[in-house]
Amino acid sequence: MSQQIDKRETARTEARYDRIAPIYDLMEVLPERQFRSWREKLWAQVPKGRVLEVGVGTGKNFPYHLPDLNVVGIDISERMLDQARQRAEELGHPVELHQMDAQQLDFPDDVFDAAVATFVFCSVPDAVQGLRELGRVVKPGGKIFLLEHVRINEPEILGKVMDLLDPLVLRLMGPHINRRTEENVRRAGLEVARVESLAAMDLVKLIVAKPARASHGRQLNNNRYEGDGREEAIFEEGCMDA
Ligand SMILES: C[S@@+](CC[C@H](N)C(=O)[O-])C[C@H]1O[C@@H](n2cnc3c(N)ncnc32)[C@H](O)[C@@H]1O
Repeated sequence: MSQQIDKRETARTEARYDRIAPIYDLMEVLPERQFRSWREKLWAQVPKGRVLEVGVGTGKNFPYHLPDLNVVGIDISERMLDQARQRAEELGHPVELHQMDAQQLDFPDDVFDAAVATFVFCSVPDAVQGLRELGRVVKPGGKIFLLEHVRINEPEILGKVMDLLDPLVLRLMGPHINRRTEENVRRAGLEVARVESLAAMDLVKLIVAKPARASHGRQLNNNRYEGDGREEAIFEEGCMDA
């Protein structure tokens, strides 16, 4: 099933993050103090094996990758990836990085034991399509971990304020502030295994999901993968370093 991608909005997202990449870490200094414990909590639950980190950004999760994980990171923004590469080098952390769109992953079906995204599905233009792609590339029985800020539903007035401010925040900073990510996970056909509210008014949630099917006749991607030589046989069918 090939899905229509909004190329214009996707290009805008890429350009926004390319633009803020050099100052992204600076912009996040204060909130990051809180994010650290949430990142630690999430990564402590990720099962060992081959893990896809989507929207890896400047690599803020790298310090929390446990040693028995083999992580492949992707991001749409080459400038964010530049920062991530620098961080990986500074930390001496081996992580394979590719520029790629979460809405159309260049990986075959069922190749990852888990997938992780932190503060990403607020920015992916078609979040449902991106989540569907995670369900496709994660093996049946694997897990998908999402740490996301979401729309406040109670009190509804705050949700409405978020709806009003959303276009401005999107333009200035990159993310949507009114995403209904838990609903999007279900709409993507994933099974919600667990949801933990981490902040007041459910502003931030840790969502653990699973691919909801044993097999759904997904298409294999025939692009050729040119990786770093550490790939297992499962990658022989191909994915591409864009
Ligand atoms: C708010 S940042 C979060 C970065 C990082 N995960 C973190 O926790 O600090 C969102 C990231 O998602 C990436 N992103 C947005 N849309 C994407 C897409 N369609 N495919 C892949 N990455 C995307 C952006 O380039 C950016 O690096």
